[in-house]
Amino acid sequence: MTSPNTPDIRTGPDNDTVLTVLRLAQRAPSVHNTQPWHWTFDGIRLHLHTDPDRMLPATDPHGRQQVISCGAVLHHARTAFAAHGWHTDTTRMPDPHRPNYLAAIEFRPWPNPPAGVATRAEMIARRRTDRLPLLPPQGWNGLLHSLRKLASPHETTLDVLDKSTRARLAGLSAQAAAARKHDDMYQMELHWWAGHSGVPEGVPRSALVSDAEFARVDVGRVFPSAPHSVRRAELTDQAEVVALGSTGESVPHWLHTGEALSAILLECTTAGLATCAVTHVTELAAGRRAIADLLPHHAVPQAVIRIGTAPSDEPELPPTPRRPLADVLTIRRP
Ligand SMILES: Cc1cc2nc3c(=O)[nH]c(=O)nc-3n(C[C@H](O)[C@H](O)[C@H](O)COP(=O)(O)O)c2cc1C
Repeated sequence: MTSPNTPDIRTGPDNDTVLTVLRLAQRAPSVHNTQPWHWTFDGIRLHLHTDPDRMLPATDPHGRQQVISCGAVLHHARTAFAAHGWHTDTTRMPDPHRPNYLAAIEFRPWPNPPAGVATRAEMIARRRTDRLPLLPPQGWNGLLHSLRKLASPHETTLDVLDKSTRARLAGLSAQAAAARKHDDMYQMELHWWAGHSGVPEGVPRSALVSDAEFARVDVGRVFPSAPHSVRRAELTDQAEVVALGSTGESVPHWLHTGEALSAILLECTTAGLATCAVTHVTELAAGRRAIADLLPHHAVPQAVIRIGTAPSDEPELPPTPRRPLADVLTIRRP
């Protein structure tokens, strides 16, 4: 007989726990908030697949960012299971013949997960993408060491693109935006996914910035602009910019990058910092080559992240919407 709070060693988490955890994991960041994942729970194991209907053929033709997004939801789910007392043994790419089948998770009771897990799980609901200009990140030097340590188990490097490379990076950001400006398919996708309200996906108007605000951020994707406003009027962006890199270019590399991205974003949120993933610069081959040249080890750049401090006197940014769990989870009988 187990108490209500003691995980059942025979069966793994019950359906209610799976629902609670995956509802929280839905808060994971994803490219254009596409939420391109699908979970199946068979009563014992949990399986993660990409959702092929949520590809962005013009923006992300190889599915790199789709898989990175799935890596982020995988790490969010594992963090939340740990906070509920479940260790997750994860097999990545369990069937090499099915590249959409990203992970299979088995469970073991984990009554005492490491310190910090509960806090990181709490941060899942607090994290937001902040596209406004930011102050420098407080406590940066100490934090940087932790961020690198969180990335390394995922075979992902984290390099700071320091002040000396900032002008070059801003130039690459502008070049990538210019290359996309007259790409009709890219623009169609962007306007399909961004700027709408009242739908459970995409980047809502409330998460976008006005032209006047965007003018003070030198490294950022051009989204449809929000109506005129001048939030953080005194600020020009002083965020640190880091690049996540892999040792190669494949689905497992992208999955690990997403897991590292999630770990980094949650750690930054725990430290009271604001973050914004920026990937238009790593979408096109020319941009990836140019960013690789800025990195010390010539890692394959996968994503760039702005990390800074939001002014403390502001209300929290509103959360972006998510699809209902029923749309992303199938529960099968064992
Ligand atoms: C792989 C990936 C790529 C992303 N690229 C960008 C980007 O280029 N610019 C940006 O402003 N946000 C980017 N984001 C952030 C998403 O737009 C954001 O996670 C999504 O809209 C949900 O909002 P939230 O993070 O506030 O929950 C990216 C996120 C992921 C996971």
